[in-house]
This record gives sequence, structure tokens and C-alpha cells, in this order.
Amino acid sequence: MALANLFQRKTLDRLVGETADPQHQLKRVLGPVQLTMLGVGAIVGAGIFSTVGTAAAGGSDHLGAGPALVVSFLLVAVACSFAALCYSELAAMVPVSGSAYTYAYATLGELVAWIIGWDLILEYAISNAAVAVSWSGYFQELLRGLGLVIPNWLGTDYRSAVQAAAEVARTHAAGTDVATLGAGLLRDAQALQAAPQLFGFPLVFNLPAFAIVALITWVVLIGIRETAGVNTGLVIAKLAIVLFFLGLGAFYVKPENWTPFAPHGFKGISSAAAIIFFAYIGFDTVSTAAEETRNPQRNMPIGIMASLVICTVLYVAVAVVLTGMAQWDTLGNAEPLAAVFSALGMNWTAGIIALGAVLATTSALLPYQAGQPRIFFSMGRDGLLPPWAARVHPRFRTPHVATILTGVLVAVCSSLANINELVELTNIGTLFAFALVAAGVLILRYKEPGRHRPFRAPLVPWVPLGAIVCCGYLMLQLPAKTWWRFFLWMAVGLLFYFLYGFQHSRLRNGAHPGKPTNR
Ligand code: ALA
Repeated sequence: MALANLFQRKTLDRLVGETADPQHQLKRVLGPVQLTMLGVGAIVGAGIFSTVGTAAAGGSDHLGAGPALVVSFLLVAVACSFAALCYSELAAMVPVSGSAYTYAYATLGELVAWIIGWDLILEYAISNAAVAVSWSGYFQELLRGLGLVIPNWLGTDYRSAVQAAAEVARTHAAGTDVATLGAGLLRDAQALQAAPQLFGFPLVFNLPAFAIVALITWVVLIGIRETAGVNTGLVIAKLAIVLFFLGLGAFYVKPENWTPFAPHGFKGISSAAAIIFFAYIGFDTVSTAAEETRNPQRNMPIGIMASLVICTVLYVAVAVVLTGMAQWDTLGNAEPLAAVFSALGMNWTAGIIALGAVLATTSALLPYQAGQPRIFFSMGRDGLLPPWAARVHPRFRTPHVATILTGVLVAVCSSLANINELVELTNIGTLFAFALVAAGVLILRYKEPGRHRPFRAPLVPWVPLGAIVCCGYLMLQLPAKTWWRFFLWMAVGLLFYFLYGFQHSRLRNGAHPGKPTNR
């Protein structure tokens, strides 16, 4: 096998030409406002409603930032701005669905494209599993407020239940009152005892997470127009709920809560930054809708940058208000934005915020559930995945087989896995993809300097280099076990490539763009 084969690149003309293939065409219906909405919809979700609490207070494998969480948010915003500028340049130049995967095909060659495409499953599918778990938590909180209770063994995952039971046993052995562990943890621990057994194995299963993923998959399956329409309504609702939190919360800020400002110094700030990076993921999902966008050269950069700016402003404000409302070390729970109001005895306000969080996380699920099948679609069209991945439904004009596969994958992960581990795995995978995209910008500027760039990232090479350094730094803040899982995932991907994609690649087999092979 010639080494050069692995790095064969698609030309940009060929990439754009392939989208003209009538058998593989999607509808162009999205404008700049819908794209920005898609971006905000993807960005504001479980990150700001859930992980913000453990980022401030710290968790079992990372230090908390304390009130300096606002610095973590600003640091990550800088890293994401560098990456967003790189994404914008490539998305405008290569207005083809598939996001970073497609850009890599044009810049770094097929092997790296495959690596990124495989890696993006972590950003899209695994992150959505985490968001679905967060959705399930808020949803059950709402139900409890209404007096409806889902059995504990149907409301959490096996791993969380085992970890919670171990924590309860440790606390008990230490002679401490287990009530100090919090209601959520005790419910998880109880799930293990209450669960029915199958061949001696306790059945613990996050049913609400599974159900919401099934519902969202159906919405995505029936078409992007409906997806964008549903999404816009939900995004407006979620912005309203964040503004409601800020407007009301500002009255309960006690400036003394802001001291000590950085209880764990810069280490705590960086450690929290690697976690809340999750809250920023999503601006790049806009680029996966390139083939469904009108005038993508103009609208893609607008959608990507506008959604990032809006979210940065909101996050910084939430960090300031949240850490001003309560002592930083009391924020380590799954519903910090609601919990600060409950602690003040404002249960109705907490309930409204919990409802808002359910809506917000629902809207955060949509773009990823739509984005992942479109990446599979691009990989299938290239022959790196089997042909079913590129099949388009004759009526809905959506990649229906890939959509259903994504639904099954996310639903299974969300019902069986632990949210913190899902978040960390998502972050390492996404940071890696961002770094590769930035490298792609550098390489393409060098290899094809004369190519028309409707949007040019400023200060090249500094901006792409900044993105690579910042993403690498944040990756290094994640725990060793996350790195091992990441390596394992990538190794499985490489195996798949050499067993399937390498043989079936349309590029290497010389298939003419626009004329799909009959496989
Ligand atoms: N940024 C997305 C969220 O916070 C992944 O839910």
C-alpha cells in the first residue's frame, strides 16, 4: 500500500461538484437567522444548565474554579473564537455538508479526514448522550414537583448507580450521615437495590433519556425545515429563561460570595475550563448544514460567529450572577441554576428554571441529532462508510438510514452511561477536531494561497496556531482515563478504516463525482 494513497486529497472543485449529484441532494432552505438559531440552539444546553455547577465547585477528578469561573468562560471563549474563525474560513470555502470531516478531506487527505470524521462522533453523538442525561435529570425534577415519580432504576444509568452505592457505603463506613450526600446521589444508590434482575444483573436504565432521543430522532427524520422551525421556537424560549435567571438572580447577588475569587488558583481555572468547554461546543455544527443553506459563502461565517458571540455574553453573565448568589463550593449539583433559587426558598422560580432547562436541553439535542447523520452521509457518499449512510429519503430528503442509526447509538449511550464521563470524552474529541481544523487552515493557505476565500480568518498564522495551542492545553487538563478512552476509540476507528474505507473509497477508486458507483 503506497503511503501517498492514505493522504490522497479531494480537490475543492470536486467536493463542491459532488453536491450537484441529484441523487444525493439536500434542500437549500436555511438563511443567516436560522443558522444563528441553529448555532445558539446547539451551544446553550446542558453545559450552562448542568456542568457549570461542578466546574465552579469541583468534582471527583477536577478542581473547581470558584467565582473565577468567569475567567474560565473567557479563556474558553478566546480558544473557541480562534477555532470559530478557522471554521468560518473553511465553511465558506468548502460549503459542503460534513463539517471538519469534509475540510480535512480537502486539506489533510483521506486518512486524516477519516480520523476527524470518526472523532466527530464523540462531539455529536456522545455529547448528545450527555445532554439527554441532563435533560432526563431536569425532567424528573419537574415531574417530582408535580408529584409524579419515575422509579429510580428507570431514571439513571447503571454506572452512576454503582458509583453512588459505593459513595454511600464509604460515607456510612466513615460514620458520616449519608443524608449529607444529597438527594440525587441517594436516589442513584437506591436504584441498584430496587432494580429487577435479569440473569442476576440489575436492570438500571435511563428511560427518559432514551425516550427524548427517540422523539428528537423522529423530528430530525422528517426534515430539516421542520427541524429548523422547531429549533427556532425552542431557542427563543431558552434565551428567555437564561435572561429570566439573570434578571431575577441579579437582585440576590451578595458581593462577599465573590471572595475568595480563585480558591484553587490558575489550576482550578484551567481545570474548570476543560469541563465548561462543553458549554461552548456547537458553533461548528452550523457548518454541517452547508448544503442546506442559501448563499453559504456569506451566511456560514455569519451564523458561526454570531452564535458564538451571543453565547459568550450570556455565559459570562450567568457565571457572574451564579457565583454571586451562593458560596462557590455549594454549587456542585446537576441543577445549579434552579438550586440557588430553591436554597432561597423560591421554589416556584426554581420550577420555572427547571422547565426552561428542559426546553433548553431539548433544543440543544436537535442540531447534533441532525448534524451527525449528515457527517455519516458525507462519509457514505465518499465510500468510507457503507452506501446506506448516504441514502436520502425520497420524500423527506433527509439521510434517513444514518439518522436512525444515530438515534439508536445516542439513545443506547444516554440510557447506559454516566454524564461526567460522557462530557469529558466529548470534550477531548472536540478539542482534537478543532485543532485539526486549525491545522487545515494553515495547510490550505500554504498549498492553495490563490484560492478564493469569501471569508478569511485574520492574523494567520497566529489565529490557527492560537487555536491549536489553546485546544491542546485544554486537552491536557482532562483526566488520564479520558485520554485512554480517546485512544481506544481512535484505534477502533483506524481498524475500521483499514478494513473497509480504504478498499471502498470512491476517491481512490476513481469514481466520477456526480456518478455514484453501484455498490
Ligand atoms: N454546548 C452544548 C451543551 O452545553 C453541547 O449542551
